[in-house]
Amino acid sequence: MPSTAALIVAAGSGSRAGPGVPKQFRRIGGRAVLRRAYDALRSHPRIDEVRIVIGAGQEATYREAMAGCDPPEPVEGGAERACSVYRGLETVTAERVLIHDAARPFCPPAVIDRLLAALDTHRAAVPVLAIPDTVVRGDGILREIVDREGLFRVQTPQAFDTRAILQAFDGWRSTPPTDESQVARAAGIEVAMVAGDPALEKLTFESDFEAAEHRLAARLTSRTGLGFDVHAFAAGDGLWLGGVRIPHDRALRGHSDADVVLHAVTDALLGAIGEGDIGDHFPPSDPHWRGAASSRFVAHARALVEARGGRIDHVDVTLICEAPRIGPHRAAMRTRIAALLGIAETRVSVKATTTERLGFTGRGEGIAAQAVATVRLPEEG
Ligand code: CTP
Ligand code: MG
Repeated sequence: MPSTAALIVAAGSGSRAGPGVPKQFRRIGGRAVLRRAYDALRSHPRIDEVRIVIGAGQEATYREAMAGCDPPEPVEGGAERACSVYRGLETVTAERVLIHDAARPFCPPAVIDRLLAALDTHRAAVPVLAIPDTVVRGDGILREIVDREGLFRVQTPQAFDTRAILQAFDGWRSTPPTDESQVARAAGIEVAMVAGDPALEKLTFESDFEAAEHRLAARLTSRTGLGFDVHAFAAGDGLWLGGVRIPHDRALRGHSDADVVLHAVTDALLGAIGEGDIGDHFPPSDPHWRGAASSRFVAHARALVEARGGRIDHVDVTLICEAPRIGPHRAAMRTRIAALLGIAETRVSVKATTTERLGFTGRGEGIAAQAVATVRLPEEG
């Protein structure tokens, strides 16, 4: 089987996508666009090595975007896309190469399969999409309908015999080409067309980022986590429940502020993402957490969900106690929990029940809380 490299060009400035960090380093669903393109190619079983071309001065941004995945040493690109491609091509040792835009974060493995299959009979292959709309020529006024029969849009990755495309570049004499298929054609190489995929659409404008977020959201899968906690009463004059201070003739005993509701919420979130429990993250043996506001635990769990590209959909809490009476404080707790989770109040529910004077809660020895969290996570997460 011939060896295959992927070459990702990420040296552009992304000017059409607006100001700020160049589009290939912007995050969608919590992960950089370039990182997604890299993961998509890297994970294909036929791809042996990946080269990434970045712009001068983009190295720190590159390392940040690729944190945690042992990325390849970047190659420095040039002012034109073709120059970036050429510099990357010079570092490729594999027999075949797939040249890909970093700005196309979603690459279905089936497209790569089709390209590589086409390379068995051709020295070049590109993914294309038919044009469904009517195509016209005009200048503000419609002048002419163009027959769309035989017209296609060309995407990346574009696949080549490495030596053939390098030679084609060496022979290129005109203004910078917009893509490699053009260079191959000029060198007399027949370029095969395979079916592309709408998921490969390039992110060019700001509005494309919104569409990309939607595409990711559609891929999220729902998970449910359960949390449970108990704290015993101690002498005192009030307690924390759901991040709200409630006056009472007793307090709750605990290492932190003993907010049994926020502890249950934290554990529910951790459970939904399979990240252990509150004790793993905030060991009671650690003096650092003595008297800590439990809002910090919730913030930590929320940050873990978000770091995975996840969303918190809903949290439902049940408080179990005879006293204090929860009713007068429910709305405040709901508001506070929603704020801590960064979600609408309609996505938080706080309920309370007694246990008919049965058990430790019934005898007034302590308070228990249960929470259920519904979270959506990316499939890969
Ligand atoms: N690219 C590159 N080197 C350049 C120009 C572009 O490596 N000198 C890369 C971009 O990073 C992108 C891909 O080529 O991944 C496609 O180019 P394009 O969509 O035009 O990106 P930008 O040039 O960055 O964007 P714009 O044209 O809006 O400035
Ligand atoms: Mg450009």
